[in-house]
Amino acid sequence: MSVAKENAAMAALEFVEDGMVLGLGSGSTAEIFIERLGEKVAGGLKVSGIPTSKRTAEVARESGVPLIDIARIDSIDLTVDGADEVDQNFHLIKGGGACLLREKIIAHASKRMVVIVDDRKMVDTLGAFALPVEVDPFGMTLTANQIYAALKATGCEDGVTTLRQTRDGDGPLVTDGGHWILDCRAKSIPDPAATARALAALPGVMEHGLFIDLADVIVIGEIDHARVMEIRRD
Ligand code: 5RP
Repeated sequence: MSVAKENAAMAALEFVEDGMVLGLGSGSTAEIFIERLGEKVAGGLKVSGIPTSKRTAEVARESGVPLIDIARIDSIDLTVDGADEVDQNFHLIKGGGACLLREKIIAHASKRMVVIVDDRKMVDTLGAFALPVEVDPFGMTLTANQIYAALKATGCEDGVTTLRQTRDGDGPLVTDGGHWILDCRAKSIPDPAATARALAALPGVMEHGLFIDLADVIVIGEIDHARVMEIRRD
């Protein structure tokens, strides 16, 4: 387990208050957070979790974090989630774990989003990490061409897309929502908000991994401590 991820996850616990409805992110850093949250629950903390993936639901159950059906809530107090890249404006690339659609639905419904990363995820310009885009399998080749054009039109250095496969190599990876993932090698995304708008306008795109103006707090885990950066959105 990475010490930096552990430090970020532990620091994020400070944002959790008794009685909160929590969005529970996906990925290895979020899983550490959920395990540590489970220890707090065992000590008497009362929270309800909304998982962003089937895998996260499993981890929450194993860790003793109570879950609540998303259909039963109007809003979420706080979401704690990981990211693949974070820039200085708190824009994110997410979806390395193929959970971006549910992660974005939950982040968007949250009053506050805390992002937990190790320091290697901080970048000046997004795009070295291939941007995940969740697409409907129908017409996927057409959609891939449109994505390439959208990335180039908004100033990205490249836009070549690769259909993500399962680890076992038995075909395209299918998301929890039943879609496929195109990983888009943008190399650099100079105007993330413009790229996000262009991708969102494509009908075959179910969701893209650019999270614009959603993160309020970035917790950066380092080897011996965690740094907290906050942005005011009011
Ligand atoms: C999953 C995600 C994850 O938050 C992201 O991939 C980071 O994962 P990790 O904490 O394992 O580095 O977006 O869709």
